[in-house]
Amino acid sequence: MPVSPPNLFQFAIENSNDEFANSTDLAILLNAIGSAGKFISSEINRAALRDIFGSAGAANVTGDEQQKLDVIGDNVVAEALLSTGLVCAMSSEENAGLIDCGVAATTGEYVVVYDPVDGSSNIDVAAPIGTIFGIYRRLSEGVRAGDVDILRPGTDMLAAGYVLYGSSTIFAYTSGNGVHFFTLDPTLGDYLLTEENVRSHGSSHVYSANEGNSGKWNDPDLDWVEHVKAEGYSGRYIGALVADFHRNLMKGGIYAYPGDKGSPDGKLRLLFECAPLAFIAEQAGGAATNGTIPIRDIEPTQLHHRTPMYIGNADEVALLKGFHSVNN
Ligand code: F6P
Ligand code: MN
Repeated sequence: MPVSPPNLFQFAIENSNDEFANSTDLAILLNAIGSAGKFISSEINRAALRDIFGSAGAANVTGDEQQKLDVIGDNVVAEALLSTGLVCAMSSEENAGLIDCGVAATTGEYVVVYDPVDGSSNIDVAAPIGTIFGIYRRLSEGVRAGDVDILRPGTDMLAAGYVLYGSSTIFAYTSGNGVHFFTLDPTLGDYLLTEENVRSHGSSHVYSANEGNSGKWNDPDLDWVEHVKAEGYSGRYIGALVADFHRNLMKGGIYAYPGDKGSPDGKLRLLFECAPLAFIAEQAGGAATNGTIPIRDIEPTQLHHRTPMYIGNADEVALLKGFHSVNN
């Protein structure tokens, strides 16, 4: 009889590392995020039927229009993580400050940053979206966790990952020992291992950027994009970071969201989007930079710190960096 692949929980228990307080903690945290992902996946599939498409009628803290599913997803991820009792501090793209972790703010060992519904403008058109997360071990002791525990560079992360809600639902994570993919079997309600030790695809001359913004781009980015076009690259842009990142990881390519003359720090959030995906990219043999500095080395100065980001195949990122160093 064929042996069925391990599920996310079983695999994470066997592949934890000693930076976690207990060998089951990683599995418990990933399982909580995975459960929230199952709920979000099912909500998205039935969104039109349940009238949860569209705007919630407000903007989030960084000015993006909040979709109803942003609000639902934010609560679901927070509740799933709170139920573990392991999390002392949480922060998400949808909240201005830290999310209250109750008594676990003093006793919990881990800090989680997340973007519950990334690419949410895709929801209304049934295009892919995602959830992104990063996990740190707490730094403070014997007090309620605070900014010191959360305003940290990506190099401090113990684990990171994403859930992609596409034609199938994929859970991807790293805990510093390779990148692993699990696929949600909706009939079993379980994430099963579908690829262990994923490697970033070689260069395939693909770039993903919102080139509609190029009228505001700076010279290094304009020179780079002219170069790749002259080289015959293909453009592929879904407009949801998780989906563009995942496709480039699997098929080769680079995702770029530069800073520009109107927004020097770009659009993406360091803690909730960039640092977790940079950890995944590096663990798969890829790279992520803000043009000069590796994304994981950047020290956040605030929860909603933004940064330009170029991420994907290592050769493509090196090529991009060459344009930035010439122009500096
Ligand atoms: O979360 C920010 C985000 O929605 C990313 O998922 C996506 O890649 C990007 O913004 C799209 O931005 P724009 O609409 O400016 O291309
Ligand atoms: Mn996002």
